[in-house]
Amino acid sequence: MQFDTVIKGGAIVSSAGTTRADVGVVGEKIAAVGLDLTGNTIIDAAGKFVLPGAIDVHNHFQLPFCGTVSVDDFEIGSKCAALGGVTTFIDFAIQAKPKSVMEAIEARRAEADPKVCVDYGLHAGITEWNDDRIAEIPAIIEAGIPTFKMFMIYRSQGWQSTDGDLYAALRETSKYGGMVGVHAENDDLIALFQREGVRDGLRGCYAHALTRPDVTETEAIARAIHLAEAASARLYIFHMSTGKAADIVKAARLRGVDVHAETGPHYLLLDDELFKREDGHHFATCPPIRKPADQAKLWERASDGTIEVLATDTCTFDSKQKAMWKGDFRAIPFGMPGIETLLPLTHDAGVREGRISRERMVSLLSEGPAKLFGLWPRKGAIRVGADADIVVFDPNLQVTISHEMLASRCDYSPFEGREVTGWPIHTLLRGNVIVKDREFKGAPGQGRFIRRMPSTA
Ligand code: URP
Ligand code: ZN
Repeated sequence: MQFDTVIKGGAIVSSAGTTRADVGVVGEKIAAVGLDLTGNTIIDAAGKFVLPGAIDVHNHFQLPFCGTVSVDDFEIGSKCAALGGVTTFIDFAIQAKPKSVMEAIEARRAEADPKVCVDYGLHAGITEWNDDRIAEIPAIIEAGIPTFKMFMIYRSQGWQSTDGDLYAALRETSKYGGMVGVHAENDDLIALFQREGVRDGLRGCYAHALTRPDVTETEAIARAIHLAEAASARLYIFHMSTGKAADIVKAARLRGVDVHAETGPHYLLLDDELFKREDGHHFATCPPIRKPADQAKLWERASDGTIEVLATDTCTFDSKQKAMWKGDFRAIPFGMPGIETLLPLTHDAGVREGRISRERMVSLLSEGPAKLFGLWPRKGAIRVGADADIVVFDPNLQVTISHEMLASRCDYSPFEGREVTGWPIHTLLRGNVIVKDREFKGAPGQGRFIRRMPSTA
């Protein structure tokens, strides 16, 4: 058989192992994995890894937040995704109360659909729990959005949920196979530490970390786990930052709680000493980046299966936006760029430096997210019948990260100057080559909204 495209001679990586074979693509799908395949177009992958496209389940493109709007919109953000080997991302439609969540979804889709260069999904952000929410949950899941985010912080944004709201949402969504994910930080404790800090003359952006000590995350995660356990519901922890929290999740999973956790490269690779730099406020995100001991523990838990997903929480604010803090550590626009460097950083610091296996990387970036977020088996693996979302990755290519070589609008990278070995060189989205030799060849609107199913994993 003659395939439309054959990716030839690469090492195909899955969570189960690495196999040398060709991949045959017909139309948008993977049609064969085998030897000596022939095709109209041949992509030489000798000496390269052939990976399923990465899935970044945590992004905030063009998000109105902290008095500004994150600078990478759906077009630039998804172009960054393509260049970084991410073929599907999940963003958020956050309820603007008193409007419904469904209205937020419609508005977000209207913003994203014409602009996206890779496939995408949405989580539904619930900011007000009441009977109207109970009524619309089935329709939201039916619309392809089986995952929800609730915020245990951000009272000042009007986004915070009470424990009662969270418990009720866990109970309600689980009836339909939905999953609630939480931003787990204790708002009251943070407010207390901030008040005391300001009273005692605490200044500078290191105060962002000092007023959000580990307990502000561990208490919230432990509480959310208790609520999920009581409600017999599945719980997801977004952007987990501390080693102690990773141990809490591990213990809960061992006793049978249906809890799943994500961390990201910024927590795995950066530490809070950065806040002492002049540009330290560039690194402010919530929860904050932590200590080297946290990094080590998070890697250990990413390796042993406790952490199932690596995601970036991309929420890009450039240096002008970051400067809005004017010395008040409570007023820094929280967030950083990340989607473009997710795969190469995970490969370099994780696989190449021996912290995780190559197969585990594929599980954390593709298979794990696909299974938990209702994209499996359509996405997340190189297998017959799946979407031909494929990355050809050169494990030997040496790159020095700088904002100039990235597509983001941001005028810095949190990983500026870092030398990495290994970078994606070609990206295919549903059979179309959207990145060739590290050059973007795709187009806005080429990506699709993917209706996700409740997870069966
Ligand atoms: O500081 C962060 N993480 N900004 C993005 C919004 C969120 O909390 O995920
Ligand atoms: Zn969050």
